[in-house]
Amino acid sequence: MPDVEHEWSSKEYAQEWAAKDKARAAEREAQLQAAVKWLSVSVEGRARVMDLGSGSGTVAQRLLASFPEMEVICVDASEPMLAMARERLAMFAQRVSFFQSDLSQQGWTAALPKELDAVVSARAIHNLRKLKPIEKVYCGVCDLLRPGGVFFNIERVNFSTPTLRNYYRQLRKSETGRLSQLDGPAPSLLQQFHLLKRARFRHIDCFWREGNTAIVGGFKKLDPSS
Ligand SMILES: C[S@@+](CC[C@H](N)C(=O)[O-])C[C@H]1O[C@@H](n2cnc3c(N)ncnc32)[C@H](O)[C@@H]1O
Repeated sequence: MPDVEHEWSSKEYAQEWAAKDKARAAEREAQLQAAVKWLSVSVEGRARVMDLGSGSGTVAQRLLASFPEMEVICVDASEPMLAMARERLAMFAQRVSFFQSDLSQQGWTAALPKELDAVVSARAIHNLRKLKPIEKVYCGVCDLLRPGGVFFNIERVNFSTPTLRNYYRQLRKSETGRLSQLDGPAPSLLQQFHLLKRARFRHIDCFWREGNTAIVGGFKKLDPSS
């Protein structure tokens, strides 16, 4: 789980990050609502859905609360994050399960449940930083899904050219009054589409976008041999 910016495996770091993240709840609302709306039309009630890079379980909590029959599988590399998720989601009892797996490692899908109806991920996969490892994760996600299953990735997407990135920085400055550091190692929307295509997804699209956060994803082919 190599990450120079975040120390997800540290209990102190994970707890501090989760405490600070509470302040971002309002700005996350629109993306969570959009994810729930898209899931409501693309999976059935008793769906099995994985929250990949679940962290402390905020996305899983929204899914479990929104879909009373849904089963959610939380996956994360960080034991401290999973511990917070277990606590947060205890009320959902048998409808939620937890797995520790590091997406940067070969064979990260081996011990995970398969034939899933959907995989949802939020703000996690860009931690792998480079396109090739992200593509490998997308291939793994496709392997975990049942034919016709859907993948929604709520992620930071960088604007695709330096000019657009500069305009966006100016826009943010005019909105917030400060010049924030926005460019991290995240693929652009065009790169995301390319990665999803290489991972054999179909019906690839951007399902929601606000600034440099988007929901990108697609569906696994119904007939894998086609
Ligand atoms: C920014 S947090 C997001 C948590 C949650 N998805 C949310 O939106 O609240 C990123 C999460 O990705 C997890 N993560 C980072 N790198 C990972 C890796 N290589 N394998 C599995 N999980 C990873 C971290 O442990 C952390 O819980």
